[in-house]
Amino acid sequence: MLHLLFRSWRVLGCLLALTLPPISRQEKRGKLLLVSFDGFRWDYINRVPTPNFDAIMKEGVQVERVVNTYITKTLPNHYTLVTGLHAESHGMVANEMFDQHHNRSFSMEGQSAYEPRWWEEAVPLWVTNQRAGGRSGAAMWPGSDVEIHGVYPTHYVPYNASVPFQTRVEKLLSWFSGPEPIDFGVLYWEEPDESGHNLGPESPLLDVVIADIDEKLGFLLEELKRAGLYDDINLIVTSDHGMTQLSSEKIIELDSYVSRDLYTWVDKSPVVGIIPKEGAFDEVYSSLLNANPNLYVYKREDIPEHYHYSHNERIMPILLEAREGWTIVPNKTRKIMLGNHGYNNSLASMHPVFVARGPAFQSGYTKDTMCSVDLYPLMCYILGVRPLPNNGSLASVQDLLLEPPPVTPPPTPTPRVLLGSWPKESSYAWVVELLLGTSLVVFFLFLFVKQVTQKQQLPTLPHINREISKPLLYEELQL
Ligand SMILES: *[C@@H]1O[C@H](CO)[C@@H](O)[C@H](O)[C@H]1NC(C)=O
Ligand SMILES: *[C@@H]1O[C@H](CO)[C@@H](O)[C@H](O)[C@H]1NC(C)=O
Ligand SMILES: *[C@@H]1O[C@H](CO)[C@@H](O)[C@H](O)[C@H]1NC(C)=O
Ligand SMILES: *[C@@H]1O[C@H](CO)[C@@H](O)[C@H](O)[C@H]1NC(C)=O
Ligand SMILES: *[C@@H]1O[C@H](CO)[C@@H](O)[C@H](O)[C@H]1NC(C)=O
Ligand SMILES: [Zn+2]
Repeated sequence: MLHLLFRSWRVLGCLLALTLPPISRQEKRGKLLLVSFDGFRWDYINRVPTPNFDAIMKEGVQVERVVNTYITKTLPNHYTLVTGLHAESHGMVANEMFDQHHNRSFSMEGQSAYEPRWWEEAVPLWVTNQRAGGRSGAAMWPGSDVEIHGVYPTHYVPYNASVPFQTRVEKLLSWFSGPEPIDFGVLYWEEPDESGHNLGPESPLLDVVIADIDEKLGFLLEELKRAGLYDDINLIVTSDHGMTQLSSEKIIELDSYVSRDLYTWVDKSPVVGIIPKEGAFDEVYSSLLNANPNLYVYKREDIPEHYHYSHNERIMPILLEAREGWTIVPNKTRKIMLGNHGYNNSLASMHPVFVARGPAFQSGYTKDTMCSVDLYPLMCYILGVRPLPNNGSLASVQDLLLEPPPVTPPPTPTPRVLLGSWPKESSYAWVVELLLGTSLVVFFLFLFVKQVTQKQQLPTLPHINREISKPLLYEELQL
C-alpha cells in the first residue's frame, strides 16, 4: 500500500515538475555595478603598472578592445551602454544637438540636459530595472539625474563634477548595503578624459593620470571588500571612448571654404553638424564636398550604413567628420586641444577598456573584442531583467559568463515575481501559465484519486485529498 502511494506520488510529482516550471526561478538576481572612467582608452592599462585592473582581469574577464558606437563622444556612448542602442536609435546623437522641429538646442553641459524629452527616445537600464521590481543607484552617470519616462533612479545625486571619486563610491556602497539595497549601480568619473584632452594621449604626463585611475579603482575594490559586497557584486569597469593625439598642423578651417553666413554649426570637432540656411543647401554641400582631403562630408541620408547614424532628425542635414587627428574649426583663432575623440568608431584609438569580475563572470578569461551595444543584454541577463529591443547580442558576449544562458529559447529572463508588484509585461503569460498548471494539477489529482479509490486500499477520500493537495499546491504555486 505504502509502495503504491509513493509511486503514484512520485509520478504525480514528476508530471507536475514537467508542466509547472518553478515560478521563482529568476528570484535571485545578481547585483551589478557599472563603472565608467570617461575616455579610458583600451591600451592605457599597458602604459603604466595598473595592479588593480590586473587583479580584476585575473579574477574575472577582460575584453581587450570595445568597439563603441558612432559618434565616439561621451553622451552618445554613455547612453548606448545603458540602452544597447546605436545613437540614431536612442536619440542622444551628440553632446550638443539642435531640434529643428521644436527650434530647441541641447547641450550636455547646460540646463537643457534636464529636459526629459531629449532622453525619451530610449529607456535606460536603471528605469527598466526599477520597473521590473529592482532598485537602482546612480553617482553622476550622464542622464541619471534626469527624470526619464517619469522615473529617476531610486537613489541618485545631482551632477556635480567637483564631488570627489571617494564620495561617489561611498554613496553607492551605502545604497548597496542599505536596508532596502539597490541591485544595480552606475558610477561615473570624468578622468582620464579631461587630462587626455588637455595633455594629449601621447604625453608622458598622462601616465600619472592613468596610475591615479588605477588607485581609484583600488579604493573601490577595498571599499567593496570592507562592505562585505566583494563576493556578491558583479563589477564592470569600462568607458565611453578612447582618445587620439591632435596637432596644430592638422587644422581644417571651414571659413576658407564656405561663408559662415550660409549655415549654422552644431556640436564640436571632430564631427560637426551643418544646417544650411534656407536655399543654401547645394552651395554649402558642394563647397565643402571636395574642399579638404582630411574632411569627410556626408548628406545625412548618405552616411555609411555601418555607422548606424542616419535615421534620426537630430542628425543634421550635412555631417562633417575629420580624419583621425585633424580638427575642424571656423578659423584658426580658436585654441585647439591636444587630444580628442569622436572620430570613426573603427579606429583603435577610439576604443575603450573593459574588465569585469564577480559571481556571474568567468575568471582569467580574455576576449579580443566586443561591441558596446552587447553590454546591455549582458547586464540585463545578470540582473534578471527582460531587455527592451536593442542592437546588442547576448550570444556574442555570453562566453564572458561563468554559466552561459540556455541557447533556446532565446535568453529573455522573466522579471522576478513579487507580491504586489507583478511585472506588467509578463502578467498575461504568467496567468496563462498558472491556469494551465492548476488545471493539470486538478486533472492528475483526479486520476490519482480515482486510481486509489478503485483499489480501495487507502483511508478515506477527504484525508488523501488534503494530504496531497497541500504540499503540492503550496510548494509549486507559492504566491
Ligand atoms: C528659434 O529660437 C530662437 C531663440 O532661441 C529665436 O530667436 C528664433 O526666432 C526662433 N526661430 C523660430 C523660427 O521660431
Ligand atoms: C559640488 O560639490 C562640491 C564638493 O563636494 C561642493 O563644495 C559644492 O557646493 C557642490 N556644488 C553644488 C552646486 O552643489
Ligand atoms: C575668426 O573668427 C572670429 C569669430 O569666431 C572672428 O572674430 C575673427 O575675425 C576671425 N579671424 C579671421 C582671421 O578671420
Ligand atoms: C573608418 O575606418 C575604417 C577602418 O580604418 C575604414 O575602413 C573606413 O573606411 C573608415 N570610414 C568610414 C566612414 O567607415
Ligand atoms: C536597433 O534596435 C532598434 C530597436 O529594436 C531598431 O529599431 C533598429 O532598427 C536597430 N538598428 C539596427 C541597425 O539594427
Ligand atoms: Zn567621454
